[in-house]
Amino acid sequence: MIIAIDGPAASGKGTIARQIAAVYGLQHLDTGLLYRAVAKAVLDAGYPPDDVEHAIAAAITLDPAKFQDIALKSQAITEAASVVAAIPQVREALMNYQREFATRPPGAVLDGRDIGTVIAPGADVKLFVVASPEVRAKRRVLELRARGEAADEQEVLADLLRRDERDSRRTAAPLMQAPDAHLLDTTHLGIDAAFRAAVDIIEAVRAGRKRR
Ligand code: C5P
Repeated sequence: MIIAIDGPAASGKGTIARQIAAVYGLQHLDTGLLYRAVAKAVLDAGYPPDDVEHAIAAAITLDPAKFQDIALKSQAITEAASVVAAIPQVREALMNYQREFATRPPGAVLDGRDIGTVIAPGADVKLFVVASPEVRAKRRVLELRARGEAADEQEVLADLLRRDERDSRRTAAPLMQAPDAHLLDTTHLGIDAAFRAAVDIIEAVRAGRKRR
């Protein structure tokens, strides 16, 4: 089974994806880490994130062993990731890794921006997870403060909106709900309720398949 979970930053998709993978015994890939790792490699080498040539080279030589690096979550990398992610050849270079991950037994949950539309258009279940920008900013602030980073809510909100805009407006695989994706709005849902709502959707889709 392949489950595709897309949505904007801090919508809750990552937490839902992790929990769903654990419950259904599937592998989980946070695809944002790929773009973050490319961005970090470019910045570490001393180039700006919109340096197309170096970003492509970093994507081609990407080392999945580096996905656990905590530095990938920093604000600078977050911003740079959405810049390298707009480069079509970078996306192209990262496609095989994601598709192979998705099709490997026993199946996988992938979360990102283009999983249901580009990476796994044939996924068994697709979720598009959203939440209001204000709620997403609050969540991100709590997350940053929990890691000991200073965070101003207005600044975080502005960063999120800028990133949403960049991710939605780019021509290469923009953030978009697939026509057959189920919308899950977590604005008024806590972690447990969001997880249960996701399971309900997955079970309804599976039951529908069996009846046919
Ligand atoms: O999900 P996360 O916030 O870690 O993603 C970081 C950035 O990577 C996003 O803002 C987006 O630009 C890019 N991304 C993408 N496609 C994905 C996953 C992430 O373009 N499937």
